[in-house]
Amino acid sequence: MTQTQDVAAHSTKIPSDTLDQLFRQARTHSAWLPKRVPVEVLREVYELARWGPTSANSTPARFVFLESATAKARLVPALSPGNVEKTKAAPVTVIVAWDTEFYERLPQLFPQADMRSYFVGKPPLIDETALRNGSLQGGYFILAARAVGLDCGPMSGFDAAKVNAEFFPDGKWKANFLCNLGYGDRSKLFPRNPRLEFDEACQVL
Ligand SMILES: Cc1cc2nc3c(=O)[nH]c(=O)nc-3n(C[C@H](O)[C@H](O)[C@H](O)COP(=O)(O)O)c2cc1C
Repeated sequence: MTQTQDVAAHSTKIPSDTLDQLFRQARTHSAWLPKRVPVEVLREVYELARWGPTSANSTPARFVFLESATAKARLVPALSPGNVEKTKAAPVTVIVAWDTEFYERLPQLFPQADMRSYFVGKPPLIDETALRNGSLQGGYFILAARAVGLDCGPMSGFDAAKVNAEFFPDGKWKANFLCNLGYGDRSKLFPRNPRLEFDEACQVL
């Protein structure tokens, strides 16, 4: 199934144990079980995550999966010291990047209006749109990964200029954040930190 209109709209609440897997029991992992993540699973994650909404369907996020020791070794010099061992140990690390020329795909992705010319030559608008929507897509990606049974370890502790120079030397894509992927070792988790209550974080006006 590739098109949303192939299925009836679902508006029922999903089961509580599924909500646990996506949110309440899902944790950020730093220790990994020795179990590889087949590329088919990475594909499955992307094919779910890509349906998350973005402005003008711009979908600026790009994903670079680092699986081999060689690829990981290229990333390590850019990592904050505290992120080195967990990244080396993770079966896969994904660079969640954004395409600075995402608007070139808008004639295909949003054919009902000329959105491409809305962006051309406007770097601040391009950056703001790409970062907002690319970060949203990174969030969709994490939830999609959890939905297929993977665990995630997102990281912003890295030198983006070094990652960009190493992996994106032509300057077209830029790193947003990194995310380790695999099957987490729950025995190594620290107790979970609290979250803000509804009344602390939300207003209903
Ligand atoms: C964008 C982002 C960047 C993060 N950067 C780092 C990082 O560089 N190093 C690290 O150890 N954890 C990092 N974290 C992990 C957070 O501290 C963790 O997700 C948060 O404390 C919630 O933990 P929990 O999911 O286990 O409840 C990051 C998380 C996110 C979403």
